[in-house]
Amino acid sequence: MKSVVITGSARGLGFEMAKVFRKNNVNVVISDLNVDALEVAKVELEKIPSEAKVVSLPCNVTSSEDIQRLIEFAQTNFGVIDIWINNAGVNQPEKAIWELSEAEINMVLDVDLKGAMIGSKLIMKEMIKQKHGAIYNVEGYGSNDAMMLGLSVYGTSKRAITYFTSALAKESAEKNTGVIVGKLSPGIMITDFLKNALGDKEKITLSEKTKKVYNILGDYPDVVANFLVNGMLKNTKNDARIEWLTTRKAAWRFMTAGFNKRDFFKED
Ligand SMILES: NC(=O)c1ccc[n+]([C@@H]2O[C@H](COP(=O)([O-])OP(=O)(O)OC[C@H]3O[C@@H](n4cnc5c(N)ncnc54)[C@H](O)[C@@H]3O)[C@@H](O)[C@H]2O)c1
Repeated sequence: MKSVVITGSARGLGFEMAKVFRKNNVNVVISDLNVDALEVAKVELEKIPSEAKVVSLPCNVTSSEDIQRLIEFAQTNFGVIDIWINNAGVNQPEKAIWELSEAEINMVLDVDLKGAMIGSKLIMKEMIKQKHGAIYNVEGYGSNDAMMLGLSVYGTSKRAITYFTSALAKESAEKNTGVIVGKLSPGIMITDFLKNALGDKEKITLSEKTKKVYNILGDYPDVVANFLVNGMLKNTKNDARIEWLTTRKAAWRFMTAGFNKRDFFKED
């Protein structure tokens, strides 16, 4: 039976991916900074019929000690770790670069970029010993060089994640580790992430223009998770990019927007 570890999986995409892995009889380790939400998530996951087990451990991805503890916890429970997903992330406050405090900049980079880097580094060492495994990092706005006001630091981190993941994949191939590394590109998902910055410390008020774009391009995270997990379970290639919202799909969404009146934000 395979096993997966997902960081930041008490809600949103991470939680939805855990559900799909469970349905596919994969042993799951969920982890999150938010201890209460993690407990609730574990109870929900246990309700899904599965031959596999689900276990949970609090983990702040800005702490390498926490990440190492998570690795050891997964090994104790399941022996081998087949898939590791650096999913934990925070959004930034909707401000221009010079309006952000140094603490705000640090937090976004520490969680979104450094958290995934240290996670990749620590799990890579274990997967090399196993002689197999797959590491996935989550892309986001900025990964493809797109820019907009209020997403500069988040976009920088996600652009760097894309580079970092390919660089890691190249090193893994050159050193013949047997470990594959890939990117998950989830597009736009209607999660708490869109309306909260810095791990829910600050609210983001979405403009009508932004809501319009999200209504056209966005999806609920369960739909995206289903696609991404099936992609990961099938993938055997190094440096793969499992992409939900392709350029083609986005163009089709815009072309058909007049017929598809979706409103994810009607309760706002
Ligand atoms: N929502 C979107 O539109 C979107 C689009 C592209 C990429 N992404 C990326 O997808 C991933 C998941 O996003 P989501 O929409 O599910 O967000 P979310 O806010 O719903 O969930 C993120 C989870 O990460 C946890 N977390 C935050 N800081 C942490 C830390 N330091 N250590 C451990 N856990 C921490 C949170 O508690 C939360 O449970 C993120 O990497 C995000 O950047 C999101």
